[in-house]
Amino acid sequence: MDFNKHLFLQLALILLLFQTFTLRAQDFMTNVHGRETFSLNGKWQYIIDPYETGFYDYRFKEKGEKDPGAYWNSGIPKDKTAMVEHGYDDQNTLMVPGDWNSQDDQFLYYEGTVWYKKSFDYQKKSPSNRVFVYFGAINYQAEVYLNGKKLGSHVGGFSPFQFEIAPSILKEKGNYLIVKVDNKRYKDAVPTVNTDWWNYGGITRDVMLIETPPIFVDDYFIHLDMPSSELQAVTKNAKVSGWVQLNGAKQGETITIKIPELKVKKEIKKTAALRTPFSMTLPKAELWSDTNPKRYEVVFSTANNEVRDQIGFRKIEVSGKDILLNGKPVFLRGICMHEEVPTEARRAHSQEDALQLLGWAQELNCNFVRLAHYPHNEQIIRTADSLGLLLWSEIPVYWTIDFENPAVLNKAKYQLREMIARDRNRSSIIIWSVGNETPVSPARTEFMISLVKEAKSLDATRLISAALEVHYNRDMNTIDDPLGAHTDIVSVNEYLGWYVGLPSYCRTAQWKTIYDKPLIISETGAGAKEGFHADSLTRWSEEYQEWFYQEQVDMMKRMPDNYTGFTPWILVDFRSPKRNNPIYQEGWNRKGLIGDDGKKKKAFYILEEYYEEIEKENKY
Ligand code: GCU
Repeated sequence: MDFNKHLFLQLALILLLFQTFTLRAQDFMTNVHGRETFSLNGKWQYIIDPYETGFYDYRFKEKGEKDPGAYWNSGIPKDKTAMVEHGYDDQNTLMVPGDWNSQDDQFLYYEGTVWYKKSFDYQKKSPSNRVFVYFGAINYQAEVYLNGKKLGSHVGGFSPFQFEIAPSILKEKGNYLIVKVDNKRYKDAVPTVNTDWWNYGGITRDVMLIETPPIFVDDYFIHLDMPSSELQAVTKNAKVSGWVQLNGAKQGETITIKIPELKVKKEIKKTAALRTPFSMTLPKAELWSDTNPKRYEVVFSTANNEVRDQIGFRKIEVSGKDILLNGKPVFLRGICMHEEVPTEARRAHSQEDALQLLGWAQELNCNFVRLAHYPHNEQIIRTADSLGLLLWSEIPVYWTIDFENPAVLNKAKYQLREMIARDRNRSSIIIWSVGNETPVSPARTEFMISLVKEAKSLDATRLISAALEVHYNRDMNTIDDPLGAHTDIVSVNEYLGWYVGLPSYCRTAQWKTIYDKPLIISETGAGAKEGFHADSLTRWSEEYQEWFYQEQVDMMKRMPDNYTGFTPWILVDFRSPKRNNPIYQEGWNRKGLIGDDGKKKKAFYILEEYYEEIEKENKY
């Protein structure tokens, strides 16, 4: 190959790499709710575009940036002669945040592209400031444009992303932000095409502008850093450690960390590394726990920027067969939960939604919630922090992921990094889960071990888990999933009495595990249509579900001695396209202990009583 051709190819590769990285969403700044923001929530205009006419020409080639027929251009004709076949108007609007499925019947089952447009004026506070656009989440793929210029794209439906807006693009008047959202399912996506939940599409979480000075606090981590044996409910001379990451700063920049309530202040100088480590000793620290969710305001600042956060100091670790919270064994009285408001059949996104859902979990006497099967919105996590609910947070590596595909592993790792990056400072999260019910095979186990290692490398302060598989053999059920050798705890889903036999099947079931680790039953459940009553042998009746829970609770009392947690499936009925019994399901998975009308079923009280017993026994 002649020299010129070689040089040309080299330059093309560099340009492609540059474009990929500049147009791919950046790592997002942490704790946006602790910063000054300009909300873009509210009514957005939309165009439904199932054939992606706004993105591809009639030869299915991506349209040029200036193409007036591209839907990232405003669609307002330049003059009366202009041929423009699209447009945005107030006849067609969707609320943001919010899934589109629940906002209009035409969207209920829609899987495809919708273009969103938001017009706004924006006056910077200072010309030297920087401006970012931040999205709480978009399901599933987003292409983002401002004033006809592409800012970038993001893949993954349940974590934040942001783009810095170049000063040359942002205007004081007449900005228009356009987002192409595509929620189609793909075999090589995460999750893959097969899920037992509704494929809610749209800009499902908050959108905001964030203005910062040239140098600002981008990210940080602060956590208790001492042996469990030295911990008391109020710990004197408590050591906390962590790091601070600045954006735009040079080595030597001063960073201040303050905890006003404890009259503690620490100054450090930014090192050459991305993250500057620190540790400090608190004269005393009231530890955060499920019985005392104490949080301190922590202020991270530089000369011209400050971020305030509410931090709970606690320690979680495994000791033999026990899970220790602040050095004391804890039993996880849990329940599983989707991110869905059942009474309105929509994605949850607000603090009010979080209080409703987590309030129901508290009524159940829970101290633990398994957030299935994807990272939930930040309101749910922060509300759990304030209520003292422990959480399991999970990436949607669910069922039949394409484990043989390295690109899919990268997508899963990217989502894992985003989940941990957003919530690493949230005391409520004690477990990161790398997946759910993935079918055992050499490729799957290698894929999942790689995710466990990635999670441990990103956060050594929490437990790593996944819902593993069980070896069923009539009455002897063995927990020997090879992935269990790598996770910190062993968690399995079982449906004895629903998918296998009747509830009486539980009476003779025996359990054993080859792992000497804490064991959580991370799912079990039976369907019931709220308000349908019959004898307990009648499927779908509340009485059948109640009998199921009684037999399950009796079986839990016979579990091996490493049994330390229980999160039945599920708090509330939820929408699923896989649930098509015309009388009892009608597109709903009915295993909720609460119906889609918010009414409790009889089984709710069986679990509530079991947890009351455990709490009273305070078996630890
Ligand atoms: C599985 C899966 C859930 C699903 C449940 C069910 O265990 O983890 O996502 O909804 O079973 O069958 O209802």
